[in-house]
Amino acid sequence: MKFDTPATTNPIDNLKVVGRPTHRIDGSLKTTGRATYAYEWHDPDLRYAYGYPVGAAIAKGRILSIDATDAKSARGVLAVVTTLDVGDRKRGEYNTANLFGGSQVQHYHQAIALVIAETFEQARAAASLIKVEYAEEAGSFDLAGAMETAVKPDDDQAPDTAFGDFDKGYADAPVTLDAKYSTPDQSHAAMEPHASIAAWDGDEVQVWTSSQMIDWWRGDLATFLDIDKDKIRLMSPYIGGGFGGKLFLRVDAVLAALGAKAVGRAVKVALPRPFIMNNTTHRPATIQRVRIGATADGRIQAIAHESWSGDLAGGKVEPAVNQTRLLYAGANRMTAMRLATLDLAEGNAMRAPGEAPGLMALEVAMDEMAEKLGLDPIQLRVINDTQVDPEKPERPFSKRDLIGCLRLGAERFGWSDRGQPGSRREGNWMIGTGVAAAYRDNLLIPSGARVRLGQDGVITVETDMTDIGTGSYTIIAQTAAEMMGVTVDEVEVRLGDSRFPISAGSGGQFGANSSTSGVYAACVKLREAVAQKLGFNSDEVVFENSKVRAGNRSVTLSEAAGPEGLVGEDTMEWGDLAKTHQQSTFGAHFVEVGVDVFTGECRVRRMLAVCAAGRILNPITARSQVIGAMTMGVGGALSEELAVDTRRGFFVNHDLAGYEVAVHADIPHQEVIFLDETDPMSSPMKAKGVGELGLCGVSAAIANAVYNATAVRVRDYPVTLDKLI
Ligand code: MOS
Repeated sequence: MKFDTPATTNPIDNLKVVGRPTHRIDGSLKTTGRATYAYEWHDPDLRYAYGYPVGAAIAKGRILSIDATDAKSARGVLAVVTTLDVGDRKRGEYNTANLFGGSQVQHYHQAIALVIAETFEQARAAASLIKVEYAEEAGSFDLAGAMETAVKPDDDQAPDTAFGDFDKGYADAPVTLDAKYSTPDQSHAAMEPHASIAAWDGDEVQVWTSSQMIDWWRGDLATFLDIDKDKIRLMSPYIGGGFGGKLFLRVDAVLAALGAKAVGRAVKVALPRPFIMNNTTHRPATIQRVRIGATADGRIQAIAHESWSGDLAGGKVEPAVNQTRLLYAGANRMTAMRLATLDLAEGNAMRAPGEAPGLMALEVAMDEMAEKLGLDPIQLRVINDTQVDPEKPERPFSKRDLIGCLRLGAERFGWSDRGQPGSRREGNWMIGTGVAAAYRDNLLIPSGARVRLGQDGVITVETDMTDIGTGSYTIIAQTAAEMMGVTVDEVEVRLGDSRFPISAGSGGQFGANSSTSGVYAACVKLREAVAQKLGFNSDEVVFENSKVRAGNRSVTLSEAAGPEGLVGEDTMEWGDLAKTHQQSTFGAHFVEVGVDVFTGECRVRRMLAVCAAGRILNPITARSQVIGAMTMGVGGALSEELAVDTRRGFFVNHDLAGYEVAVHADIPHQEVIFLDETDPMSSPMKAKGVGELGLCGVSAAIANAVYNATAVRVRDYPVTLDKLI
């Protein structure tokens, strides 16, 4: 099915199941430990062996030799696979760095060997016996130092944009701001490490793994192994967090497959925690410059956003300026991104790539402008709202209620109690409040599903969609239930298996809307199959209460199914609506902080998010997404930073003791409000994403609240106490 005209009324609008608060259907499996995560998969017919990876001890250079003699003769060891044995391999479509194979070292902790033993402990012990000789080369590891050498990437990756005449508009503006901000490298730091089990059967391999994108992984693993994609079955039914770190094939799957081949048994490989920081991808650090020029009454007449980031040669920019093209009005504007070559591990997408770090700068700049203009920060944003793409005025937003989010939030949060910077005090705590706009694109990705009606009346949905903790199982069940006129209990959802139709996968907050739209399309097919079999007129057919009726005829779904059952399969494809209309999600974040007047310790006391993101498919799982994202934003504002050893070229704090993520207990009070909205341009579901929106702007709201509390403006994240005292 192709979605190329705005959605009209359809069965989803009944909202008997969709839109209702529904607890996640996989919840009890997870809370009772019965959900089998990648490393936990157990097949009694397989004899598992354990692989432990060895990472390069240099950041750049070449491996001269690997001596695995002692490791191979250590107790329990079955085999050692080295990158030199494997030799150069073709890189898949989605990775910048080589995952394994050959003698080149592109970054610290690039995998160079796998030791396979009877037990995990034996493999780990033997891994320490491997001796490696390197020819080390000098690398570049410091973004600030490499800024001068940064270049403009290809236009198809990161074009410069210009509209009107920024220089003139800025020079003519009576009130201006020119400020520099920096955001650090960040790690996804998911609870579940990257982990895989591989088992070969002849020339076919089954891989249980932890992947956000089944089909991308399967394709790239096939390229690496140089086998046909059809020879690989990839399964990832439960995932302990991804945040973008599991979008692209990682080395655990590669090593498990190579190890299993070498020993002729099933092999388990989990990346040790330090590998998560130094071997997998991370969100690249940025240095950003924002310039805003406004009239005395606060109208933006010039806005510019430039960003510098680094990656391995052939890599990508962190697209931190993207939201600035779309968030505020202004007749004269420009954006640009520059990329420096750094020899750190591969930089890549982490939750809300672009907007998350971009808004950390832009939304502090807006706070600074409001102060210069003597305007309330909410008022400044309201004055500069736009209902059209400011660079392409003929292109409206499909739906945009940023003002509604800001106004409702201000009222619910008690924004009017806000004082002048540094003016509120409770004992030793300086108290401040801050606000920031939230903005994130709404992406649409083709998504397929197969839906089966069985004689028992149960609807089974199969799609390779993943659930990274987001609630995919549940909203997919709700969608199928609404379409087929049954309850959620009468739907069985099977996800994360490459034998199922290819879905959008989980990423870019496109998963919920795209994957449920694919299920919608498959259900339309199944409804047609049911109507056709019964000879019902498909225009008047109604699916309700586990029955199908037309006119005065009514048949139960199980009767309709018959012994063979009925199947509908389809893929939702997307037309040009996202080109004719800018599709985005909006929100407003409000934060109150306390800063200790003696130590500079900063505590978030309460947070409120108001989101406008189309139809909310399930208020419980959507709220959980936003609350989790807000918590992540607290880490981004106050603690998360991969510390770079700029001499040796690696991230020093490569564990969860040194890389500090915020947790729920850090924040006494969080609230989320969704505006009652549908977006007929987004899909038949009229929904959009919220999983990344919830993070966008949070860190800026916190930095702004810290300024309001202390009158100290910090432009370099994280806002740690040393920067306040
Ligand atoms: Mo997201 S960074 O596309 O998982």
